Amino acid sequence: MKRGLALSSGFLLVMGFLAVEAQQAKKPPEKIVFTSKMGNVTFQHAKHIEREKANCKVCHDKLFPQSNAPLNYKANMHKTAEASKTACAACHVAGGKSFETKGNCAKCHVKA
Ligand code: HEC
Ligand code: HEC
Ligand code: HEC
Repeated sequence: MKRGLALSSGFLLVMGFLAVEAQQAKKPPEKIVFTSKMGNVTFQHAKHIEREKANCKVCHDKLFPQSNAPLNYKANMHKTAEASKTACAACHVAGGKSFETKGNCAKCHVKA
């Protein structure tokens, strides 16, 4: 009986460490650079978080899964994403929270 208790608390301790590790691995990056032959795009993650008042759910996991999965944004020069209001085009779309792609390529794509 006593031995079983010690074992399970040891197990809980290990699980606790794993949870802390997972949280640290999830620390949000300041910015993320998407390479593109149109000119690289610097996504200001910190600024975007600030504007959404730190509500991560606006973007994660529905719009962006926090992985290296493709953004599904670039197809058809963003028109596909704009039509379905997905990826960056959930906001960067005509009538959205921010500037649409049309006429604004250089706001995102910066040539080296
Ligand atoms: C405006 C949208 C937006 C908001 C709000 C947002 N993120 Fe992100 N986040 C992104 C995008 C875009 C990526 C890159 C694509 C991906 O990894 O899915 C990303 C990636 C990440 C990654 C993975 C980074 C990597 O190097 O792979 C983490 C961790 C993360 N975000 C944490 C957070 C946390 C924590 C919050 C809330 C405090 C948050 N994000 C809010 C858009 C957002
Ligand atoms: C939840 C809504 C939302 C999403 C999703 C989003 N943005 Fe934004 N973005 C904004 C807002 C709001 C601004 C503020 C600029 C403005 O005045 O319109 C902005 C501004 C920017 C700027 C100007 C620099 C800055 O951050 O102030 C760039 C570049 C940009 N976004 C790129 C992206 C890219 C690339 C993605 C997808 C990876 C993305 N955004 C996804 C809402 C969003
Ligand atoms: C809101 C920011 C934003 C705006 C505005 C924007 N783009 Fe992009 N664009 C991106 C991002 C981010 C990627 C990378 C997407 C990915 O990896 O899925 C990209 C990728 C592309 C690609 C694919 C290129 C490659 O090397 O894979 C093309 C083509 C493109 N954009 C064209 C344009 C054109 C043309 C405009 C203006 C009409 C424009 N973009 C406006 C953010 C933007």
